Amino acid sequence: MTVSSAPGKVYLFGEHAVVYGEPAVPCAIERRATVRVEARDDDHVRVSATDLSLDGFTVEYAGSTDDRPDVDVPASLVEAAMGYIDAAVEQARDAADAPDAGFDITVESEIPLGAGLGSSAAVTVAGIDAATRELGHAIPIEEIADRAYRAESNVQEGQASRADTFCSAVGGAVRVEGDDCRRIDAPDLPIVVGFDGGAGDTGELVAGVRALKEQYGFANDTIGTIGDIVRTGERYLDPDPEGPAATLDETERIEEIGRLMDFNHGLLESLGVSSRSLDSMVWAAREAGAHGAKLTGAGGGGCIAALDPTPETLTALRFTPGCEEAFRAELAADGVRRLE
Ligand code: PMV
Repeated sequence: MTVSSAPGKVYLFGEHAVVYGEPAVPCAIERRATVRVEARDDDHVRVSATDLSLDGFTVEYAGSTDDRPDVDVPASLVEAAMGYIDAAVEQARDAADAPDAGFDITVESEIPLGAGLGSSAAVTVAGIDAATRELGHAIPIEEIADRAYRAESNVQEGQASRADTFCSAVGGAVRVEGDDCRRIDAPDLPIVVGFDGGAGDTGELVAGVRALKEQYGFANDTIGTIGDIVRTGERYLDPDPEGPAATLDETERIEEIGRLMDFNHGLLESLGVSSRSLDSMVWAAREAGAHGAKLTGAGGGGCIAALDPTPETLTALRFTPGCEEAFRAELAADGVRRLE
C-alpha cells in the first residue's frame, strides 16, 4: 500500500485570466486530499471515496467504477471526481509503462468538491504520486505537476491552466503564467475561508467568460486588468529588495494585498462568475474589517478567501446567511507528501 496527500489552494489573484495567458497566484492551504493505492493482480480499478467533502455533503461509495455510486450530491460532481481519478490512473500507468496495472484506491479529502479550493487537483496530484510509487516508479515533483495538469486538461476538455495542479504538487505560494510555473515567497497570510456549501461548474464558467470576451472587446481589457493586479500583487508578496514594497512592513504589505484582492473580486464579479452567496460572504468579511476578500477559483458558488489576522471575519462569516462553514486556512508549505 502506498499513501500520498496533496493540499488544496486558494487563489490570491488571477483565476480565469490565467486561462488567457495572464499570470495567477494560487497559494496552497492545509486542507488535504489523501489517496491510498494498492496494486491488484488484475487490471481492474476499484475506487472508494469515504469522505470527499466537508460537512456540507458526503460521498460514499465503493465498487467498480462502472457501478453508479449511491451519493447525496449531484451526479455530475461525482462523475467529475471519478473522471479525475481515472485520468490520474491513466497518467500513472503511462509513467510506469504499465498499461494494464490495476489498483484499489481510497480517497479521503478535507476539501469540498468543486468549490474553488482545488479538490480535483489535490486528488489528481496525490493519486498520480501514490500510484506511480506503488508501481515502483516514483517520479519527480515537476513531472507529477505536469502529468496532473495533463490529467485535468483531459477531464476539462483542454480548459485548464497549470495553476491548481502545480500549486498542489509543490505547495506554498506559486506564480503561474502559461507554462512558466514557479514558487514565490509570501508573508504568513492570515487567510479565512467562507464556504457556501455549493459548487460551481468550472467548464461552464470558463465558457461564460470566453463568450463575454468574444461579445465585448472590453472584456479583454478586464482580463488584462486582472493580469495587472497579479503583477502588482506579487510585488507585495515577494518584494524586490530595491523596489518600493521593500520599505513596507509585513502588515502593510498584507493590507495592500487585501486591497488588490478586493479589486480582483470586483472584476471577477463583472465577468459574471460571482454569485449572491459569494458576494454576501465577501461583503461580510469586508464589513468585519478584513484587509480584503474575493471569491476563489471558478466561482458560481463555493468559497471566498479573506485576509484577517483578527477573529472578526471568521465570526462574521459564521453569522452570514448563505455561509455554511468558515475556517482559518494555514498556508501549506509542503505540496505532495509521501506518507507510506
Ligand atoms: O475552481 P477551480 O479550483 O477549478 O479553479 C478554476 C480556475 C480557473 O482559472 C477558472 C480555470 C483554470 O483551470 O485555471
